[in-house]
Amino acid sequence: MTETVTYRPPRSEELADCALIWHASVNDYMSRLGHPLPPPVLEPALRLAEHLLGTDPDRFRVAVRSSGAGNDERIVGFGIGLQREHVWFLSQLYVLPAEQRRGIGRALLTLVLPSAPAAGTADAGSGLGAGSGLGAGSGPGTADASTEPGGSRPGVLATCSDSVQPISNGLYGRLGIVARMPVFNLVGRPTSPSVLPALPAGIEAVPLEPADRLSHRNPAGPGKAELCDTIDFIDRQVLGYAHQPDHLFLRVQGRTGFLYRTAAGEPLGYGYSSQVGRFGPVALLDETLTAPVISHLMAAIEPRGATSVWVPGANDRAMVALLRAGLRIEGFPAMFCWTRPFAAFDRYLPAGLALL
Ligand SMILES: CC(C)(COP(=O)(O)OP(=O)(O)OC[C@H]1O[C@@H](n2cnc3c(N)ncnc32)[C@H](O)[C@@H]1OP(=O)(O)O)[C@@H](O)C(=O)NCCC(=O)NCCS
Repeated sequence: MTETVTYRPPRSEELADCALIWHASVNDYMSRLGHPLPPPVLEPALRLAEHLLGTDPDRFRVAVRSSGAGNDERIVGFGIGLQREHVWFLSQLYVLPAEQRRGIGRALLTLVLPSAPAAGTADAGSGLGAGSGLGAGSGPGTADASTEPGGSRPGVLATCSDSVQPISNGLYGRLGIVARMPVFNLVGRPTSPSVLPALPAGIEAVPLEPADRLSHRNPAGPGKAELCDTIDFIDRQVLGYAHQPDHLFLRVQGRTGFLYRTAAGEPLGYGYSSQVGRFGPVALLDETLTAPVISHLMAAIEPRGATSVWVPGANDRAMVALLRAGLRIEGFPAMFCWTRPFAAFDRYLPAGLALL
């Protein structure tokens, strides 16, 4: 009996399978590099998958292998894209090791990308859309990489890849989603916190509402519509797009945030940390506040263990401050990839690599 692979949205009970595929596929190549992953803690991956299934149901697809005999379906890969204003971001793409290099990752990626204009329209073929070599039926060698990166798809395409992963970097690079910037994981407790400067006099750190008082309609908290607008403003200035549902998700998951502003109420940025040590996002309108804001967050929210911060290479101020405070670089860097620049990464620290 012929086995087939089909693609469809996930059922909620299949999200745990996706989390296991994430662990198996990353562990496979990290083990070959001598860095096996610790046993999986699936809870954070599951919560993120649920969140993204909620915000982007049409951009979450699983690859299912079945023999056609009865109910023997097995999830062998999955892909999740998310759309935030003009920026599409590939959050996750993972295929079981035994199923890799058979076109499944490419097919998943094609399904979760924003749609390109159909063949025959004025734009088709002008870029990496229909002629990208990624669409169904397109043969190798048809991509015209000399045309505009991202092709005829509107907006920006972006993701975060592993620097040690040629398959994903090659797959995304063909679309113009080229690896441009390293992102380092800095981990530890500050051994020399006194090297971090305090917030300058006159700057207020206003706590954002605790998660239990939030709602999707008003993620900044009751009576805080203005605060939502301020955070949207900061996000559009720094990250390039607003993403209130992600703020809500992060706060429900235990991140505590502050808005930084002048005594006159002028916004300067925001920052989050958490008791489990996950740090970020931090978005600043004024880059000279980078070290003081890191210092404030580390003192205001003391983690139970180590702090873990993802630092883009462009954010030299955060890198210098965290290294001098005593955190250490762990593992291989990840890579931010994009078709066109969209964020001021010199003033941003992401929440993570699958959700900026
Ligand atoms: C990355 C991943 C999802 C790709 O899925 P896949 O099913 O293995 O990939 P496909 O077979 O669809 O496509 C492979 C393509 O990668 C590209 N590729 C592979 N190796 C490459 C290399 N050394 N240089 C450039 N491109 C390369 C090619 O375009 C290749 O297509 P081709 O064989 O037709 O030329 C999968 O390998 C995986 O899960 N890897 C481990 C986890 C991971 O790194 N996920 C991505 C996180 S950023």
